[in-house]
Amino acid sequence: MDTVSLTGKDLAAAINADSKARAAAFAVAPRLALIVANADPASAWYVNSLRKAAERLGIACDTVDLGADASVETLRAELAARSADPAVDAIMLQTPLPAGVTLDDVSSSIAAPKDVDGVSPLSLGLLATGLPGFVPATAEAVIELLKHHEIPLVGKHVAVVGRSNIVGKPLAQLLLAADATVTVCHSRTPDLAAVTATAEIVVAAAGRAGLITGKHIAESATVIDVGTNESADGGIVGDVDADSVRGRAAALSPVPGGVGPVTTALLMRHVVDAAGNR
Ligand SMILES: NC(=O)c1ccc[n+]([C@@H]2O[C@H](COP(=O)([O-])OP(=O)(O)OC[C@H]3O[C@@H](n4cnc5c(N)ncnc54)[C@H](OP(=O)(O)O)[C@@H]3O)[C@@H](O)[C@H]2O)c1
Repeated sequence: MDTVSLTGKDLAAAINADSKARAAAFAVAPRLALIVANADPASAWYVNSLRKAAERLGIACDTVDLGADASVETLRAELAARSADPAVDAIMLQTPLPAGVTLDDVSSSIAAPKDVDGVSPLSLGLLATGLPGFVPATAEAVIELLKHHEIPLVGKHVAVVGRSNIVGKPLAQLLLAADATVTVCHSRTPDLAAVTATAEIVVAAAGRAGLITGKHIAESATVIDVGTNESADGGIVGDVDADSVRGRAAALSPVPGGVGPVTTALLMRHVVDAAGNR
């Protein structure tokens, strides 16, 4: 069977065109604060790409580098100060965080109306109860990519591989809200292939290159690859072994060029939405 490539570039371009027009309508440009507390090259690359994406859309972007040894107290104080600053519309906290600091230690200091990546306990609670709030952009990107490619979710069995607070769990909530039947798998799932091979849609969000192979996929299933793993040649690869899945799956999202560009576009859309809360 021919496997359709579920690219995200056209969808991202459409979202960005809309965000750019909406950003231009503000007397004062929407402003995003990117809080960094690491010396990780992959994070620096990502921060740079977010800055460029913001610039292209007319969104002002401040990077606040607190250093890789910032304490929980320093991070909380900075997030609280930006939350209280009327000049800042949106806040994103980059990972990794300093050794010994978890997202849970600090994320509640981001005010929900500015929490554009939906990481705070309040944002995640709003999502779980179906109330309006910012949703983690990667999880939302999976739903938007499926919708864009007209892949129905109502009544479908979706297996999500990964249960993190920023991808797997919020994605499961969004899928339930879209009336899918959801199974969430994780590292303690004894026979992953036995579960995923019963699903009509498989979403891989484990951060393990090549974890999902042809044996994990039912014939004609749709596969969304959220994973971004560094490859030996310095590029990025997903969690799906594309060569073994292609020809078996009906559709597969590429890495790069699938979920990634849609995630960035949705983050920027959230920044413009946050400016609308002024
Ligand atoms: N494309 C994008 O825009 C984007 C954005 C964000 C993240 N990502 C990528 O998405 C991936 C997941 O990110 P994350 O932050 O959710 O990662 P994470 O916090 O490390 O969580 C990984 C999840 O995968 C599960 N897992 C790990 N190995 C497994 C295995 N062998 N079998 C089944 N489940 C396994 C873990 O299970 P346990 O809970 O049992 O440990 C955990 O729930 C990463 O590659 C990340 O880079 C991409």
